[in-house]
Amino acid sequence: MKMVNIKINGMSLSVPKGSTILEAARYAGIEIPTLCYLKEINEIGACRICVVEVKGARSLVAACVYPVNEGMEIETNSPKVQQSRKLTLELILSTHDRKCLSCVRSGNCELQKLCKDFGVEDETYYEGENIHYDFDDTTIHLVRDNNKCILCRRCVAACAAQDIGVIGVAARGFDSHVGCTFERSLSEVPCVSCGQCIVNCPTGALTEKDDTDKVWAALNDPTKTVIVQTAPSIRVT
Ligand code: FES
Repeated sequence: MKMVNIKINGMSLSVPKGSTILEAARYAGIEIPTLCYLKEINEIGACRICVVEVKGARSLVAACVYPVNEGMEIETNSPKVQQSRKLTLELILSTHDRKCLSCVRSGNCELQKLCKDFGVEDETYYEGENIHYDFDDTTIHLVRDNNKCILCRRCVAACAAQDIGVIGVAARGFDSHVGCTFERSLSEVPCVSCGQCIVNCPTGALTEKDDTDKVWAALNDPTKTVIVQTAPSIRVT
């Protein structure tokens, strides 16, 4: 295997040619934060949280997609890098439904953790127009809340990796949002309820549906039929 010699944070390394900066850094035990990256499934450089400084480059580069070259010198945690990541988080939060305390993912949310790590508090740095999206809770297993979506596209890639591919990004620019073709709900497309989109969502935009209350009510209601499915949920009819 052909190797290239690089320096990360002053540390000399020899890594396989064709590696990305992120792979090289992880190989060396250096952590670079990511939000949209999913190894071999979603490597699209969408979120820009993983940006690093490369000596000689005119701007910061996304470590998850940028390949290493012979002699490359990389800084993964310089003040410029930290400032950029913080700004990116503030911009993401500016259109994010910041109801963390009542969010089912609170304490288990990648965005929330990064904001904490970078000292980005729940303050509105960038006020402006926001789009409100209705929930999609039409399927038996999940709830999609696009108000918490950060457009990382992990769910889209995970759905495609399952050979299902029923979700994608609709519209352009500020109007971009994840959904089904022709704005149909998930119950109107051949979603198979595999749950991979939920597992890979870094925020509370996709969560498992909790029908516990309905099930308990139905169990005590002789006029209701409770169908227990093997996976992934319980349905009340
Ligand atoms: Fe690299 Fe999102 S993790 S751009």
